[in-house]
Amino acid sequence: MPADALVLFGATGDLAHKKIFPALQGLIQRRALDVPVIGVARGGFSLDRLRERIRDSLDRSPAGRDGDAYTRLVELLRYVDGDYREPATFRALRERLGAAARPLHYLALPPSLFGVVANQLRESGCATGASVVVEKPFGRDLASATTLNDALHRSFPEAAVFRIDHYLGKESVQNLLFFRFANTFLEPIWNRNYVEHVQVTMAETFGVETRGKLYEELGAIRDVVQNHLLQVVAHLAMEPPVAMHADALLDEKIKVFKAIRTATPADLVRGQYRGYRGESGVAPDSNVETYAALRLRIDSWRWAGVPFYLRAGKRLGATATEVLVTLKRPPQQLFAGNVAPNYLRFRLGPDRVAIALGAAAKRPGVAMLGRDVELFVCNASTEELDAYERLIGAALVGDRSLFARDDGVLEAWRIVEPLLGAKDSPQPYDPGSAGPAAADALIAPFGAWRSFDDV
Ligand code: BG6
Repeated sequence: MPADALVLFGATGDLAHKKIFPALQGLIQRRALDVPVIGVARGGFSLDRLRERIRDSLDRSPAGRDGDAYTRLVELLRYVDGDYREPATFRALRERLGAAARPLHYLALPPSLFGVVANQLRESGCATGASVVVEKPFGRDLASATTLNDALHRSFPEAAVFRIDHYLGKESVQNLLFFRFANTFLEPIWNRNYVEHVQVTMAETFGVETRGKLYEELGAIRDVVQNHLLQVVAHLAMEPPVAMHADALLDEKIKVFKAIRTATPADLVRGQYRGYRGESGVAPDSNVETYAALRLRIDSWRWAGVPFYLRAGKRLGATATEVLVTLKRPPQQLFAGNVAPNYLRFRLGPDRVAIALGAAAKRPGVAMLGRDVELFVCNASTEELDAYERLIGAALVGDRSLFARDDGVLEAWRIVEPLLGAKDSPQPYDPGSAGPAAADALIAPFGAWRSFDDV
């Protein structure tokens, strides 16, 4: 059943300003949002100030402000001001909800407040019939994620919990699933018999910017590997779901997580860009990693013996998220000359979304010599639906397929748990480089990382 009100906690915060209001405008434009939107915050704000903030958010958004959609959003808008620890705030919210029986509560708040707000929602009667949206990070290790799940479950059944990992809302990540299961030619080779190794890269040219203090609590493994990159791996490695409904899909993805061997420090290279320790909010002797390269093993019939290499880092030589699936070479080398093994490459963003197939073709001329060619299809990312718009739209209609499920989150923490909180110094690397050289040694038995010059 679709939600009949949207409650936005943290309505005056950064996430709401940057992502949520532009997404709500998009939903209104697509006629996918037509229920009261109740902002809640403890900023001493008023409805008027919130309207102004929304106007500013839309003006600064990539799509700009659409006058009609903004007017409609303002018509739908209500505001409750108050402390999240005060029952009075939630009594006021209950009143504002009026006849709404299936509100969707979006907690755009620090995770430390999830439990507090969930309790207040239950005690005030606002959780009855309701569902809840929370944002990553879902805990900071296995134990805290378990505690967080328990705290949410005291007020909401799992079927009413929507955990946003914005990678799951990306067109390009959805396409991994589509491309794999809508085509016939891929399935026979998509396994240990033909695939030699898989690389997933998430590289960013920018550093931690204004998030130094927050990043000190995270590091690359918690920030993007445990969630975004493992979700990409699940899309690449999962078995076909028995149907396209949420639990069928989530079951298959979680089976992949269950089959991934718990990583060990020997599977990991941690790096830190030179200059990180001088960033605002960062300890001068910080050992937090801004780069991680990781080797994963999937103990399943399909993937036994095929290593999955993941790397993610800030201040690298390119901004690109990309998957490279390298196939084994043909059984015989009939032709002279060196050609690269076949590969499939999925560019997941940010500026272009592409699918490419690397192959060998004959070089023109008398000799039977080969050359590498790439068959390439590309979409401009401007054609994409924004991830937040897609995800909030899905939560409003109760579609859980694009969200992380409790058991999956715990499995993902189990995989990276031994890698967390390393005390040793990460390997330094130069801004603009490809990361620490030690990562090359990690992948060397299977080749080399795809060069940033090519991405
Ligand atoms: C966020 C991380 O979840 O994802 C950031 O906290 C990262 O550190 C961001 O930069 C990347 O998202 P995208 O959509 O730009 O690839």
